[in-house]
Amino acid sequence: MTLPDSDIRSADAPSPAHGVRALGVADIPALLALAREAIPDTMAARLGPRFADRYHRALLDEPDLRLDGYFDGDELLGFIVYTHDVREALRSAFRRHAFTFGSALAFALLSPARLAFVLRIAGSVLGRLPEPGMDIRAELLTIAVRRGARGGGALRRARGINVPHALISGAFDYLRHRGATEAKVFCKPEAVDPAANGFVRKEGFDLRGQVVRWGILTNLYVKSLTPPPAGRPPAEGVA
Ligand SMILES: CC(C)(COP(=O)(O)OP(=O)(O)OC[C@H]1O[C@@H](n2cnc3c(N)ncnc32)[C@H](O)[C@@H]1OP(=O)(O)O)[C@@H](O)C(=O)NCCC(=O)NCCS
Repeated sequence: MTLPDSDIRSADAPSPAHGVRALGVADIPALLALAREAIPDTMAARLGPRFADRYHRALLDEPDLRLDGYFDGDELLGFIVYTHDVREALRSAFRRHAFTFGSALAFALLSPARLAFVLRIAGSVLGRLPEPGMDIRAELLTIAVRRGARGGGALRRARGINVPHALISGAFDYLRHRGATEAKVFCKPEAVDPAANGFVRKEGFDLRGQVVRWGILTNLYVKSLTPPPAGRPPAEGVA
């Protein structure tokens, strides 16, 4: 299914005073700074800043991987990464950016734990090994919001701006346009990350179970993406 032109957001479009837009290469420094603050333990972060830079360029280059940011003026307050077909999108990214992902493997050779992790991902993506939740193709891969813009922060209290809700609502709209009827997200266990679990439940995800993905114990959540009821106003990121 192709998107009507009006649904394709361009990174070149003028940035709104505040709101969601597609990220571009020029946004990578801000994206990496936010990722270092909010999700310092991801593979991209653990493999160092050069890898993180190349990795995000590779993601941006992949048409079926979507990276949106929430901006307040020029300030990036949050971002989300999602796709309507996670296996094919990652597979394509791995193939087209073999050097970038190969460099992760080379670096991982320095540590057995890292090597096992990188090999598990490569086996799953390139070797099409079975993995939990693989019947659902649409996935929210990452969402991260600056501390001050999270629940309880001044932005939400004082200005009524709900950054994570705006980001995830935009993703749901896109996934529906791409024909997805369900979406999944993997979250760390509740005890490790209560905010992420609380957030995805609030956004309508149901816990399917605890699973081991790429060697890591996570909660697998699934949400039905049935069209919103008629008359429901579009999400604007307002709490
Ligand atoms: C995940 C994230 C985007 C959610 O944004 P958020 O603004 O924190 O989410 P919200 O405040 O809207 O929702 C969190 C819910 O969990 C609840 N919660 C439960 N325990 C919590 C805790 N210890 N800390 C914060 N919230 C908690 C909150 O009360 C809230 O529900 P409520 O609005 O009904 O009170 C944000 O926390 C973040 O960027 N975290 C770091 C990156 C990350 O972990 N990403 C998740 C990958 S799946």
